[in-house]
Amino acid sequence: MAETEQKKLKLEGGEDNFKPVFKYYKSRNPPPSLENVIDISDYNKWQDYVEKLTLVENEDYAKNVQRLGLIDSSKWQVVTLNSGLVLIRNPFTAKSINYWCSRCLKDFACNPPFKTNLDISLNPPYNWYDQVITDSHSELVNKLRWSTLGYHHDWDTKEYSLDSTSVFPEDLALLSETILACTGLFNHQKPTYKAEAAIVNFYNMDSTLGGHIDFSEPNTESPLLSVSFGQSAIFLIGGPAKSEKPKAILIRNGDVVIMSESARQSYHAVPKILKADSLSNLLGDVNDGETGQKQGSSDDDVFVTNYLNSHRINMNVRQVF
Ligand code: OGA
Ligand code: MN
Repeated sequence: MAETEQKKLKLEGGEDNFKPVFKYYKSRNPPPSLENVIDISDYNKWQDYVEKLTLVENEDYAKNVQRLGLIDSSKWQVVTLNSGLVLIRNPFTAKSINYWCSRCLKDFACNPPFKTNLDISLNPPYNWYDQVITDSHSELVNKLRWSTLGYHHDWDTKEYSLDSTSVFPEDLALLSETILACTGLFNHQKPTYKAEAAIVNFYNMDSTLGGHIDFSEPNTESPLLSVSFGQSAIFLIGGPAKSEKPKAILIRNGDVVIMSESARQSYHAVPKILKADSLSNLLGDVNDGETGQKQGSSDDDVFVTNYLNSHRINMNVRQVF
């Protein structure tokens, strides 16, 4: 173990109980058992571990809810676990999942105005989507890893700078504010929340995200909102120190995770991407009232559908200042 890591653990107190769990779920051979992974779709099995929240329809935001392609907030399945962690089971209609995934793939992976992992050696403007849409077998499909919107997170210094910024997409800000308002975590009459930066993560089936706390934002009071599409994932949530053994949660297409209060400052990770049940579950969604609903068959829709069949997208929205 590196000396600095050892020092850090000493400061935090105790041994690392996060890493063994991460390693267990990351393992390919043997694959992990999913027996202890909290799946809120199976609420009866997990009711001792999670607390159900019943939301009321938020009148002030009802119009936005509809405009954003979300189902009525009174119908959302919302639970809390680990103080401050809120999980909303897919509140999107299939149509709006398609909308957000198109935004991520066609607009947000575009440099400029945004910044992606692909731009470093390439001359901007560089649009990943323009390159891959003509050749979906291109190796480039799997090379997209992240894109930053609004204040750009600097991966080396782990800081945000006022000078390094793009516009923050208005629709994504509205989505974040609306979801937080519906859960009661943001009061629009006293605006205390502003979506200022987002990291969009693009996962291949073998991608992982190691244990970390998002500490780059000077503002650690505001909740962090995370929306996932496509393939499923095991999400680990621990505590403020690695000595706390994390819980494993199954995150599916459309699920929203909110990290507020002490969960905002807790270790978390994605040790494994799991194959989602099927394509019809992915895009033809129960929330549209009919299953297997077709999205049309433009080249764009076919690309988005194929991408979601073998990738996971995660939009991670933060208030920075
Ligand atoms: C992050 C993050 C979680 C996820 O981007 O900081 O924790 O579910 N992502 O992808
Ligand atoms: Mn994170």
